[in-house]
Amino acid sequence: MAISRILVADDEESIRWVLSKALKKQNYDVETAEDGIQAQDMVQKRRYDLAILDIKMPGMSGLEVLKFIRDEHPQTLVVIMTAEATMEHAVTAMKNGAYDYLTKPFDLTALDAIILKATKAAAVTEQIDQLKSEIQSQYNFGRTIIGNSQTMQTVYKTLGRVAGSDVTVLITGESGTGKELIARAIHMNSSRLGKPFIAINCAAIPRELLENELFGHERGAFTGATERKAGKFEQAEEGTLFLDEIGDMPLELQAKLLRVLQEKEITRTGGHQVLKVNVRIVAATNQNMAEQVENKSFREDLFYRLNVVPISLPPLRDRREDIPMLVEFFLQKARQDFGIESIECSPEALDMLGNHHWPGNVRELENTIKRASLLCPNHVLTPADFPDLCGKVPAGLHEDSLEGLVCRKLESSLAQMNLCEMDNLYEMVLHQIERPLINIVLQKTRCNQVRAAEVLGINRNTLRKKINTLGIDVKRNNGD
Ligand SMILES: Nc1ncnc2c1ncn2[C@@H]1O[C@H](COP(=O)(O)OP(=O)(O)OP(=O)(O)O)[C@@H](O)[C@H]1O
Ligand SMILES: [Mg+2]
Repeated sequence: MAISRILVADDEESIRWVLSKALKKQNYDVETAEDGIQAQDMVQKRRYDLAILDIKMPGMSGLEVLKFIRDEHPQTLVVIMTAEATMEHAVTAMKNGAYDYLTKPFDLTALDAIILKATKAAAVTEQIDQLKSEIQSQYNFGRTIIGNSQTMQTVYKTLGRVAGSDVTVLITGESGTGKELIARAIHMNSSRLGKPFIAINCAAIPRELLENELFGHERGAFTGATERKAGKFEQAEEGTLFLDEIGDMPLELQAKLLRVLQEKEITRTGGHQVLKVNVRIVAATNQNMAEQVENKSFREDLFYRLNVVPISLPPLRDRREDIPMLVEFFLQKARQDFGIESIECSPEALDMLGNHHWPGNVRELENTIKRASLLCPNHVLTPADFPDLCGKVPAGLHEDSLEGLVCRKLESSLAQMNLCEMDNLYEMVLHQIERPLINIVLQKTRCNQVRAAEVLGINRNTLRKKINTLGIDVKRNNGD
């Protein structure tokens, strides 16, 4: 972080004028306060990188404002100005957390030196904060990648091979398979650790705003652009930029992105200055990119630029052997996050979890375990603790397929019947499917029975018989 916004507080107008003129000339954004109370008020409303405060001001002294800033806005650096070089003032200011002090009358070069030093210090502080948060998140449960299956081992190997270099990686996989987790792992294991990891979801941001988010804009670039804004590319400088849902990027922006990747430079919207960028790109998508290239919704040249190293994450149902390990991991997380002392999964429940189709992949499994752990009345999860999974489609069938839907509906309907008392279940069920099917086809063919029989692939006479036995009202279907 560089110093950009500075507050100057002094009751002497000439000092305010000289300082603000000199600093503005160096392109700092400078605001002034006439006394301590106004300074405190301004600090409360806006974020300043640096506050230069006169020690003696009416109402509230510079030292009092310093104390307020240290308590409330510790990220703002404070420089205290004193009228005479008494050691006492200097010591008090520094003891109270001032970054430095200046003795009036001072040379502007002395101030420049302090600002330069502060800029460097701020950059170091920011880097330390970044490292801290990354180390924390690395040891955080949420950041561990679980899975020993063959396919995951292949993923780890590729990850290990590419992490150290700057190659572009394209991660593909269904929703919830861990694409973002892998992207972060690449960053964590690269030499860019400690520098920013910036993620942007290209599908979640309206297309008009996406360009601005990526490349930033200059002040006055468009109505409402009251300040210069750094885009994600700039924010990720020296770090990693994660372009999530890249398949949703509009074509015109794809062209611009391609240029940026080739030239390694950007221009902010409304600006002329060309900025060099040093950013590692990791992209992800849950769409079929080859198909998108085929139907021209994604540029082929950009696809090849991004797909230098592809990592494809398997759906959870294709690595069921990892499910027990994942369940244990999420149970451990639940114990920790919700302070549950002990919670386990019964073998029957584990069996059920292992056979589920998991269309939402690891995310769905994680949420399922979380919900069940919170609602479970005792310490062992049984199949009854997963009501959403009971009556679900068997493995191998897609949730949203017609057969999947029928299967789920049948299971829940049959659960309410006493099967021992039934003797015509087969016919009853078939009638309930045949009737709506024939109704729909008759409506679509405007009751042309010859056409309807063709569509259904049955004999005309058979159709007529069925219409009679099923009691279908042909007139109603004709719209009469
Ligand atoms: N192998 C794994 N081990 C542990 N947790 C995982 C694993 N894979 C995914 N998760 C967890 O599942 C959740 C979803 O993962 P993530 O957000 O990375 O998926 P995604 O592929 O980016 O999904 P989407 O396409 O919906 O954005 C996260 O909470 C993540 O921590
Ligand atoms: Mg994601």
